[in-house]
Amino acid sequence: MRLLVTGGCGFIGSNFIRDMLSRHDDLTIVNLDALTYAGNRQSLADVEAAYAPERYVFARGDIANSELALHLFERHAIEAVVNFAAETHVDRSITDAAPFIRTNVAGTQALLDAARAFGIGRFVHVSTDEVYGSLGPEGKFTEDTPLAPNSPYSASKAGADLLVRAANETYGLDTVITRCSNNYGPYQFPEKLIPLMFSRAMADEALPVYGDGANVRDWIHVADHCRGVELALLKGRPGAVYNFGGDAEKPNIEVVRAILAALGKPESLIRFVTDRPGHDRRYAMDFTKASRELGFTPQYDFTRGIAETVAWYRQNGAWLESVQSGAYRQFMDKWYGGRA
Ligand code: NAD
Ligand code: TYD
Repeated sequence: MRLLVTGGCGFIGSNFIRDMLSRHDDLTIVNLDALTYAGNRQSLADVEAAYAPERYVFARGDIANSELALHLFERHAIEAVVNFAAETHVDRSITDAAPFIRTNVAGTQALLDAARAFGIGRFVHVSTDEVYGSLGPEGKFTEDTPLAPNSPYSASKAGADLLVRAANETYGLDTVITRCSNNYGPYQFPEKLIPLMFSRAMADEALPVYGDGANVRDWIHVADHCRGVELALLKGRPGAVYNFGGDAEKPNIEVVRAILAALGKPESLIRFVTDRPGHDRRYAMDFTKASRELGFTPQYDFTRGIAETVAWYRQNGAWLESVQSGAYRQFMDKWYGGRA
């Protein structure tokens, strides 16, 4: 298969490309990535060394550029697309929604237009549980839960999901939408909870826990999410939506304590800070449909996953350091400076 992956220099995309190329000898991947602050070509240095240029090609560019996408489809005889590219950080979307609308909404539509014009066989759109909004103490999101996004990030992802749905209904484009819970694992950008807490704890800096720390997320190891996306690509029904989850609901404070325990650092580093505006209280996923139709089951339990992840970050301090640009530090200082 000849696959175009977007956002492959980000956290999940880089894990997906590495895993797919190592297990499918007949696969070629073109990675279209704009290299925003969150994209790092270095995260795929091993893949470039092992597979470029025969089975892996990197193309720097914006998914909002339909002409570039068409050019790549033609040049590499692309058969399918997996769209990971997005602006992904809720806190950034609160300070400035514009890049989220540009990439997640307009960018997705531009890519859909190019896919339709070329006649792409399958378009997998990677989305999130956050499009469903927030849960109370009981219940789980199913694929039929109405979309009720609460942050500019999740609203832009919901907008993209609806455009993907429309491309399927209106033009018959073969689309599949996946919605997954919170990922963790190697190569996650240190603005998200787990790598952020790791990197601050290692430096003996205060760990900012929003609100009362009782907000619940369902954590899935990135390898399990990648397997789900692969199953959706190969076996998903045209037009279908599939939920993926890790069956590991945890209050944030428990996650932070687990990281401190793994590092042998004191809980006195924890600081409860001003809550995130519009902070969703709880996410939980019902992924019965993906289990039944695709054979999806998460393999990692959280204890093993977090131990492996902390070990990976310990061994890859140089990667963690290298991705923290000046602009990244500026945003972090401003955001956390205002919450202490
Ligand atoms: P990330 O922020 O780590 O990486 C995003 C990548 O997209 C970066 O490499 C960036 O350079 C690239 N990109 C951004 N704008 C682009 C554009 N206009 N054109 C081309 N490339 C662009 O994100 P991630 O955590 O790997 O998430 C990947 C996808 O999975 C996103 O669509 C996200 O909404 C979804 N998702 C993430 C999670 C999670 O927990 N991280 C959970 C569910 C769904
Ligand atoms: P995050 O990793 O940003 O993912 P999302 O908001 O997409 O779920 O945050 C995970 C949870 O951790 C969320 O409830 C917000 C919380 N959080 C903190 O308490 N402190 C922080 O510094 C960050 C980044 C997140």
